[in-house]
Amino acid sequence: MDDVVVGPLDLTARVDDALAVQAVAFGLTDDEIGVRRHIVLRHLASPDARSLGAVAPDGRLVGFVYGMPNDRTQWWSTVVEPYLRRGGHQGWLDDAFVITELHVHPAYQKRGIGRELITRITDEAVEPRSLLSAIDTESPARGLYRSLGYRDLARHVLFPSASSPYAVMGAPLPLRRR
Ligand SMILES: CC(C)(COP(=O)(O)OP(=O)(O)OC[C@H]1O[C@@H](n2cnc3c(N)ncnc32)[C@H](O)[C@@H]1OP(=O)(O)O)[C@@H](O)C(=O)NCCC(=O)NCCS
Repeated sequence: MDDVVVGPLDLTARVDDALAVQAVAFGLTDDEIGVRRHIVLRHLASPDARSLGAVAPDGRLVGFVYGMPNDRTQWWSTVVEPYLRRGGHQGWLDDAFVITELHVHPAYQKRGIGRELITRITDEAVEPRSLLSAIDTESPARGLYRSLGYRDLARHVLFPSASSPYAVMGAPLPLRRR
């Protein structure tokens, strides 16, 4: 991590930089970037949304995380609710801090930045647990989340706009340390 600094991020001001990171880390088309931009800015209108960034010495944003307390009326929560209910996990939707996005630029991955971003943002949460969704495959993201104490609460979750199924994962806070 040496030269990269993790700290508070004005994500509204740097939304385009963040989406550029997400586009290379996660893969987004220009159309998808436009759609995500609206969604991110709408999320950030919530007074409870929080974000952190990882910044290189030249000021370049190389990673970011943002999230907010779960709101059962929000789209994400309404999609995952029936899947969680099926496994008896619907109670996780209350008093949970949701990680909405976490991305690190590929040139900066595997240096502990992702772990630092998600640990720091959840450490500042007042909620006793955290939720997130990740593509339901054995990715670096899933490995990271498991090592932090997240476990699968639902699998094969279909979001209307996404082509791949997702897993919903939950962890008690604070996240597990190595
Ligand atoms: C997931 C992501 C944010 C992790 O960021 P990162 O800075 O590379 O993560 P870290 O360096 O902190 O790695 C932490 C852990 O992730 C896992 N991990 C990271 N890269 C991995 C890889 N290539 N293969 C397997 N596990 C890996 C390991 O468990 C690692 O733990 P370790 O430190 O004990 O080795 C990053 O890989 C990324 O942006 N991926 C693409 C976008 C994405 O999938 N975002 C999440 C959407 S749900």
